[in-house]
Amino acid sequence: MTARAESDQGVGRWRRAWEAIDERLGLSGLAYPVPAHANGIGYILGGITFFGFLILAATGIWLAQFYHPTPETARQSVVYIMNVAPLGDVVRGIHFWVANIVMATVLLHMGRVFATGSYKRPREANWLIGLGLLAVTLGLIFTGSVLKWDQEGFEALGHNVEIGNLLGAFGFWFSADFTTSLPILGRLYMAHIVILPALGVLLLLAHFLLVKRHGISALPTEADAAVDGGPQPDKGGSTFAVHVVRMAGFGLLMLAVTTVLTLIWPAALGPRPVPGIEETKPPWMFQAFYPFEDWFGLSALLWVPAILFGGLALVPFLDRSAYRSPKRRRAVIVIGAVVAVALAALVVYATFTVPQAHVQEAL
Ligand code: HEM
Repeated sequence: MTARAESDQGVGRWRRAWEAIDERLGLSGLAYPVPAHANGIGYILGGITFFGFLILAATGIWLAQFYHPTPETARQSVVYIMNVAPLGDVVRGIHFWVANIVMATVLLHMGRVFATGSYKRPREANWLIGLGLLAVTLGLIFTGSVLKWDQEGFEALGHNVEIGNLLGAFGFWFSADFTTSLPILGRLYMAHIVILPALGVLLLLAHFLLVKRHGISALPTEADAAVDGGPQPDKGGSTFAVHVVRMAGFGLLMLAVTTVLTLIWPAALGPRPVPGIEETKPPWMFQAFYPFEDWFGLSALLWVPAILFGGLALVPFLDRSAYRSPKRRRAVIVIGAVVAVALAALVVYATFTVPQAHVQEAL
């Protein structure tokens, strides 16, 4: 047999194997066209976030092999992860840094969707689902910060309990008294590894199904009307396979960058918690709310996020112009930019203020 015939036979074998797999799994269904601009950085931020979540899930599963969620043992098990568990300190550091990057990419993704008016018909529901994902992301970071059970985590838990009190009858889950059979740390751990991830997966499925159903929004132009008509298979230019490979590339880059970051700045662990004192500040993604706590007391932790999320939820219903181009939506863009700059300024302001006590009840 000639070399050519042998190689043809080899290719034929691979094709038959692929066809057999595809017949059973329907993988070629993923080869649908996506617009070329979907591979640009602005339109791939959601995908980068998704790959960040995959890294968080993998590193989180490793950490869960060594973490022990009781008030007596939690901090010591984190010390064990850092000093004894195989690759424990690196995996913990990657988990910490990826969580920070994911928070940033979620906000940037939302900013892109906002700037390009991609929340307009028919994508209003997906904007609302996105807000659910934002809440889940914040919830994961909040519960994660409590788990390490150092002074910062303990004070965060104090806020959790106070929020429960403020919610009255609806806040029972946040209260330490809800059950005496399991410390509240155990329930927050369950929220971190089961409840919030499960909710996140459901929301992500809905989010992705709607992205598939509507197609990724076309690049806005000044002449563009808001309604861009749902799926646009003719507006290809790239394929989903190329899109996923690009996302995965960014995911690997994130893994590499966070590994280096971890080696330079390992994830911190504060001192053993001392009940009754308040001397830490929350991580940066919660710091915009911190000055409101100083000015208006703990109740601000309820109404400030409620106003923010409520305002964001109303965006698609208030911005009803026929255009998606930022140039034709100047007022909306200016309001969005003012809110974003104000939040960033509050984070900077909170960074330089001296920590104050907000929680009344010692745990
Ligand atoms: C937390 C995790 C999130 C993940 C993993 C995620 C993932 C994605 C992905 C992969 C896309 C496809 C296009 C792109 O990447 O830009 C997308 C589109 C979209 N996302 Fe998200 N998203 C998240 C959060 C959000 C948030 C917070 C919002 C807004 C409140 C949002 C609103 C939307 C909308 C409206 C689209 C359609 C955009 C278009 O067609 O141009 N998403 N999301």
